[in-house]
Amino acid sequence: MRKPVMAGNWKMNCNNDEAKELADGVVARGGQVEDALVILCPPATALTTVNDSIKNSNVKLGAQNMFWEQSGAYTGELSADMLLSCGCEYVIIGHSERRGRFGSVDEEDAEALAAIFGDTDETVNRKVVAALAAGLKPIICCGELLSERQAGSTDDVVASQVKAALEGVSEADAANVIIAYEPVWAIGTGEVCDADEANRVCGMVRGVVAEVFNEDVADSMQILYGGSVKPNNVEGLMEQEHIDGGLVGGASLDAESFGTLIAVAADSAK
Ligand code: PGA
Repeated sequence: MRKPVMAGNWKMNCNNDEAKELADGVVARGGQVEDALVILCPPATALTTVNDSIKNSNVKLGAQNMFWEQSGAYTGELSADMLLSCGCEYVIIGHSERRGRFGSVDEEDAEALAAIFGDTDETVNRKVVAALAAGLKPIICCGELLSERQAGSTDDVVASQVKAALEGVSEADAANVIIAYEPVWAIGTGEVCDADEANRVCGMVRGVVAEVFNEDVADSMQILYGGSVKPNNVEGLMEQEHIDGGLVGGASLDAESFGTLIAVAADSAK
């Protein structure tokens, strides 16, 4: 049985006061839930604040990114050990908002500028390996662009991202990996991927995990869907065979909405 997951990715939202209020609100609504794994991923500046809010609850803490080196001259970066010391158990790696796909940056091109964080399949893999070595559980994001979907290459793109991210990961460490399928065109757009199609791609990802490891690892891996998950579409998603939860942006910034998502996830415990 795979425990349902509801993970909130707050992105670059919430100063410390706002983070405390939001985390307290989530704890009040879903803090004692046992049938679902609830993870909050606030910005790095609010990790300790949120860790304090969740300390007497079942809610877990995650970061939104990390660097693969342990320490050194990497201005602005955060190591796995630093995140662990703030109370993190999880870390989102390879979110599409951090993946650079277009090489050089053209200042006139807003889409290219948004890709300046520049994660690639290779840096995502380095981060995954470093996170696992340090004892952090990675939530690995994968997903196709709209142009890739239109070109019919969704499965190829997603499968190759997943394979690259898992390169060199041991079977034992795979038990600590969560994968989130997030079609880029569905993130923050209100355009949710049809539940059947999201399930099909999550099932395809499970097949890739079986190829990389084996059926047992694939059967127990939690695979999430992300992209405009909201209270009004979460039930249809959670009832799908291969969707074990959600990685939620917008709707995680409202304690009431996120509380509803947690309740639906817990109800879906299969
Ligand atoms: P969204 O974001 O729920 O606002 O679409 C999801 C994500 O980017 O993880």
